[in-house]
Amino acid sequence: MTAFYVTTPIYYVNGEPHAGHAYTNIAADVLARYHRLKGYDVFFLTGVDEHGANVHKSAENEGLAPQAYCDKMAPTFTKLWQRLNISHDIFLRTTSEMHKRGVRKFLTALEASGDVYKDTYEGHYCRPCEQFFPEKELTEEKICPVHQLPLEWVEEENYFFRLSKYQERLSSHIRENPMFIHLEPRRNELLSFLEAGLEDVSISRSSVSWGIPLPFDPRHIAYVWIEALSNYMTALGYETESERYQTFWPADVHMMAKDITRFHALIWPAMLMALNLPLPKHIVAHGWLTKDGEALSKTRGIFIDMDTDIATYGVDAFRYYLLREFSFGNDGDYRLSRLNARYHADLANDLGNLLNRVLGLVGKHFKRVPEPTTPGEFDDEVKAMHRETLQKLDALMETFAFDTALETIWGFVRRINRYIQQTEVWTLNTPEKRPRMGTILYNGLEALRIISVLIAPFMPDTADKIRQQLNLPVGANGFDTIATWGGLPKNLAIARGEPIFPRIDKKTRQKKASPPPSPKAAPKQKAEKSPSNLISFSDFQKLDLRAAKVIAAEPVEGADRLLKLQVDLGAEKRQVVAGIAAHYTPETLIGKQVIVVTNLEPVTLRGVESQGMLLAASGDSVVLATLETEVPLGTQIR
Ligand code: MSP
Repeated sequence: MTAFYVTTPIYYVNGEPHAGHAYTNIAADVLARYHRLKGYDVFFLTGVDEHGANVHKSAENEGLAPQAYCDKMAPTFTKLWQRLNISHDIFLRTTSEMHKRGVRKFLTALEASGDVYKDTYEGHYCRPCEQFFPEKELTEEKICPVHQLPLEWVEEENYFFRLSKYQERLSSHIRENPMFIHLEPRRNELLSFLEAGLEDVSISRSSVSWGIPLPFDPRHIAYVWIEALSNYMTALGYETESERYQTFWPADVHMMAKDITRFHALIWPAMLMALNLPLPKHIVAHGWLTKDGEALSKTRGIFIDMDTDIATYGVDAFRYYLLREFSFGNDGDYRLSRLNARYHADLANDLGNLLNRVLGLVGKHFKRVPEPTTPGEFDDEVKAMHRETLQKLDALMETFAFDTALETIWGFVRRINRYIQQTEVWTLNTPEKRPRMGTILYNGLEALRIISVLIAPFMPDTADKIRQQLNLPVGANGFDTIATWGGLPKNLAIARGEPIFPRIDKKTRQKKASPPPSPKAAPKQKAEKSPSNLISFSDFQKLDLRAAKVIAAEPVEGADRLLKLQVDLGAEKRQVVAGIAAHYTPETLIGKQVIVVTNLEPVTLRGVESQGMLLAASGDSVVLATLETEVPLGTQIR
């Protein structure tokens, strides 16, 4: 199987994730899902960037130790990814041991390349960017071009990487590989930046304490950007050059927004060149998301209210809107009125109605999938469009043209609607015309089956909903299943359900948008009436229950009842102490999937820290709660 490795940036944890981050992760998710359905062996990485002065400062502001602060913030990202149906294979945290070990190996190799030297640095520094800006890029006022804040003059002893040495090689690589940097304007920007000459970059900070010390001089902390870039390899197991690393490096796609292309398209490849390692194939930078024409800004309170918009329109509509509305690579202005318009026009009318109409007619006249016995006008046109759509889609996905890809799929959806209209299928319910009616409806159903696969990378839940109504298996149905027309089994009983995109009127919108009443505002009477042994749903929601796997188990010395377990939660590993020694031997637990309460305060039991609790039936005997079938580690349980 061909490997496909796609990454997102690892996001700073000194703020909660917002729609800008969501945009990148949705785009990467679409690529990952598309390639899985195309039969690739996919690895999809996302994660968080937890080191550096900014994170340290935010932790201090909250009165927390940096690690505790990161532990609090990282789940805000995983929670959002879950809500958005992001199918990443790993959520990397830069405070994880695997990453730290990988970074040490990476820095040791970089130093051994001979391209690292020590010098004193003086320059204009932006703390929020964690970056020095060269004099030539600044105006008189010395303002950060990204944050528009005054820069600080910083002087410190740093280690440097000889980036300047790679100027020529970078230039030729970018010129010779037009798809290395996507889109064209971004490539040109970088080429002219390169022409102006590259300066060496510092790779350490002596004034920062929250980070990874350089293995060859621990008084210096690795510059957060250098450490962060290497995550794309450390996440694969670069440290041990694991099988996964061998399979997936170099990355196929590093997805990001245009703000961080320089780091990815210049510094990162140059360091890889120094290490004689292969370069990533595509650096894909999308545009900047704004809201009603204004830059997203926490301080100015300008944000995209994902919670409300998703509650109103659903996750798939949100994913669809972001990728359909904006030309991928260019900036995009998020407007609720446009989301609403797209929802009703493209989703409710075009797709929702098609499903409803075809299934309605089949239900009324046939109940089951009819036999396509009687070909007629327009059939060939529809079938030719199926083939064309598949071909076009491949080419568009290869060039990251998600908006045009969706437009192309919708061209097919609309063509089928027109087919139903042109053939006036509903008028064919006479004994002699009935076979033709059956054929047209078969074609309509077959088109819907094909559409369910075409849209699956973009709208996975909707794909499943359509398949459920067609009575077809849900889940990963590869593109090979729709390569030829006619794969829909005949005589299958259809299972028409609720409209997949119900219309949303103003009232519903407002209802969904209004914040839930605060506990204080809740009517008193109700509170008094509720029996004391009931908890509210929001109390229940406070519990963070997750699927985990036991990877090690041993008795706790001096405690007959206790076992010390190491459990893998996907994004992290934890130690949990459980009172199950009388019911389970350590060996039988290894590999078992269990349910862990992850947001309990840690406790120390017989001198051993327990960072969570396992769920178990605790009657006469203790039986661990497990899941009927295995699910990805870290999956939330509700
Ligand atoms: N930690 C670094 C990345 C290191 S990767 C080796 C960083 N983090 S960040 O939290 O600032 O994330 C930047 C990324 O967030 C952008 O490249 C983009 O993916 C996403 N976006 C943040 N705001 C955005 C918009 N307003 N619009 C679109 N994407 C945005 O840089």
